[in-house]
Amino acid sequence: MSEVIEHSKDLQLDVDSIRGDFPALKSKVYDRTLVYLDNAATTQKPRAVIDRIVRFYEAENSNVHRGVHRLSQLATDAYEGVRQSVRRFINAGDPREIIFTRGTTDAINVVAAGFGRHLQAGDEIVVSEMEHHSNIVPWQMVAERAGASLKVVPVTDAGELAIEEYRRLLSDRTSIVALCHTSNALGTQNPAKELVRIAHDRGIPVLLDAAQALPHGPVDVADLGCDFLCFSGHKMFGPTGTGVLYGKLDQLESLPPYQGGGDMIDEVSFSGTTYDELPHRLEAGTPNVAGIVGLGAAIEYLEGIGPEAIREYESELTRYAMKCVGSIDGVTIVGTAPDKAPVISFVVDGVHAYDGGSVLDRLGIAVRTGHHCTQPLMKRFGIPGTIRASFAFYNTFSEVDALVEGIAKVRQVFRNG
Ligand code: ALA
Repeated sequence: MSEVIEHSKDLQLDVDSIRGDFPALKSKVYDRTLVYLDNAATTQKPRAVIDRIVRFYEAENSNVHRGVHRLSQLATDAYEGVRQSVRRFINAGDPREIIFTRGTTDAINVVAAGFGRHLQAGDEIVVSEMEHHSNIVPWQMVAERAGASLKVVPVTDAGELAIEEYRRLLSDRTSIVALCHTSNALGTQNPAKELVRIAHDRGIPVLLDAAQALPHGPVDVADLGCDFLCFSGHKMFGPTGTGVLYGKLDQLESLPPYQGGGDMIDEVSFSGTTYDELPHRLEAGTPNVAGIVGLGAAIEYLEGIGPEAIREYESELTRYAMKCVGSIDGVTIVGTAPDKAPVISFVVDGVHAYDGGSVLDRLGIAVRTGHHCTQPLMKRFGIPGTIRASFAFYNTFSEVDALVEGIAKVRQVFRNG
């Protein structure tokens, strides 16, 4: 059993009742109740999201922006209504600043492809050592074509960005800064507002990968001041295949269309094509209407619980998990920044992450193992990978205890093995 650590009893969330909203949390795996700690990979979906998608397909299914008929109007209203919900949720100024995408990766690619058109040999793109591959590879691809290069902000031993190095890396050659708001592998919450201000002092635009931020607390683009913010629906209790690119209007206006096709044009002829206005110019083809409608239900669900209450509950849960997991002999936590998001990455002495994760799996505990799509970060820490337990607001303190007992079992299995 883990050491008993006091935690505040007056937390705002009724987690027992919240868990009842998530059918998947009742699943049994190997006859054990699922302990789902892989939320950084994807979150479970509340009944409200599942039901909303079913209702869409049963009663509103149609294409958007195209038909004069009633169903098409219903589908268009539902789809465009979610654009307003997203705008409100992240405090953007205008619904045209919200572009629907397939996910964070897709959103970053829209911006990278657009910036790539203007890049010149010698230009620089600033990223960090803690980026997900999706915030490295798209930039490498466009940099290579232009003869530009990536400059990489180093990460400290605690897993924080080295801010003075960041300042030093910015130059007149920097075209854009692309950084994560919250690290998927470590949980570090970067000082995003300060990072944006430092770049803006030099007139450099900033893209934030906020995929791991939206599920864990309020994100306010007006306060952050960022030029672009990208996130995924499926990591914030919505459907897979949905995501958002937020961009300041003038920044989005400067991006050429990412893909050509239906719904993004003004007029097409063989002598040339003119494009529609934002946001449609950047949303070619039939979108994932049902998914976006489901994303709208996820946002309403999150608003009902309250992002502040989520943040407060999760920070207590994270403190508890860090203390419990960190005090197990032979376990080293990778990423020890204060005020982390609820992501605990760790290595167990003498145990390969995959083997440890497999033992946890047989106990019904779902974690991710490996490099978490952050190979340069793993290299920075001199390890091939970690076991990562990532929490959401529906996880409990008892599930942390179950993880701690599971790690004890991992150690026992491999000590005797
Ligand atoms: N980016 C997701 C993760 O960190 C898939 O697991």
